[in-house]
Amino acid sequence: MSKDTVVLAPCVSFVLNSDVSKPPRHIAIIMDGNGRWARERGLPRIKGHEQGAHSVRAVTEACAELGVKFLTVYAFSTENWKRPREEIGALMALLEQFIAQELPGLMENNIRLQAIGRLADLPNNCQRALTNAIETTAGNTALTLILALSYSGRSEIIDAVRTLCCEAVAGRLDPEKVDAARFSAALYTRDFPDPDLLIRTSGEMRLSNFLLWQLSYTEIYVTEKLWPDFGKDDLRDAIAAYHKRERRFGGV
Ligand code: IPE
Ligand code: IPE
Ligand code: MG
Repeated sequence: MSKDTVVLAPCVSFVLNSDVSKPPRHIAIIMDGNGRWARERGLPRIKGHEQGAHSVRAVTEACAELGVKFLTVYAFSTENWKRPREEIGALMALLEQFIAQELPGLMENNIRLQAIGRLADLPNNCQRALTNAIETTAGNTALTLILALSYSGRSEIIDAVRTLCCEAVAGRLDPEKVDAARFSAALYTRDFPDPDLLIRTSGEMRLSNFLLWQLSYTEIYVTEKLWPDFGKDDLRDAIAAYHKRERRFGGV
């Protein structure tokens, strides 16, 4: 490698990030604050989740318009199964309804639906709706919308470790060959790039078990806005903040 290349390489990564004509390739969102949004209005928590579904639609449309290629939304964590049975039931009903309602719009806007998580934990009707929407939208190419459902970073890592251990025990994998690339290929997210930008709404400064491996070098943006109040302009603000960041990836 010539001396010039060494000097140029870090500049290139900075210029790419600050180029406002280029949106982040992959945005991940911890959609938080639905319950507080409802409580502020004296409404039951599910009303906040219903309103939150409108934000998912608005933000998905905005991502497609802006040229974002991947959008991952944290919709239900493995820990969320600890919530009251009525809230879980209402959330699952909302999920099934959301998928059915959004399918025509996803097709119209060339959006592919994908899901990550322990999907077998979901009620059968949700699994069926999800599988149908994933298959129907499989050929779409503009934006990939990834729903994280019954998802947690730790369970994803455990599932990947189990997969690799089984491969090794079966004699198909040399443990010495396990590196970051091989490990990434065993994760639910194997087909997607790591997120460039993580947005968390409602002001909480934690990851809550989201994409623990994949967020290693992701830019983090936290807003006080509650998820049901988060719209297209808020997404633009988050992307503008991202464009001011200098990503160094451990370099100089
Ligand atoms: C996020 O909103 C949605 C889910 C976790 C399903 P919350 O339901 O966590 O809302 P808050 O945090 O109680 O306000
Ligand atoms: C994270 O929000 C999970 C989702 C947004 C689906 P939580 O509300 O469950 O997280 P904590 O409990 O505040 O950490
Ligand atoms: Mg919450």
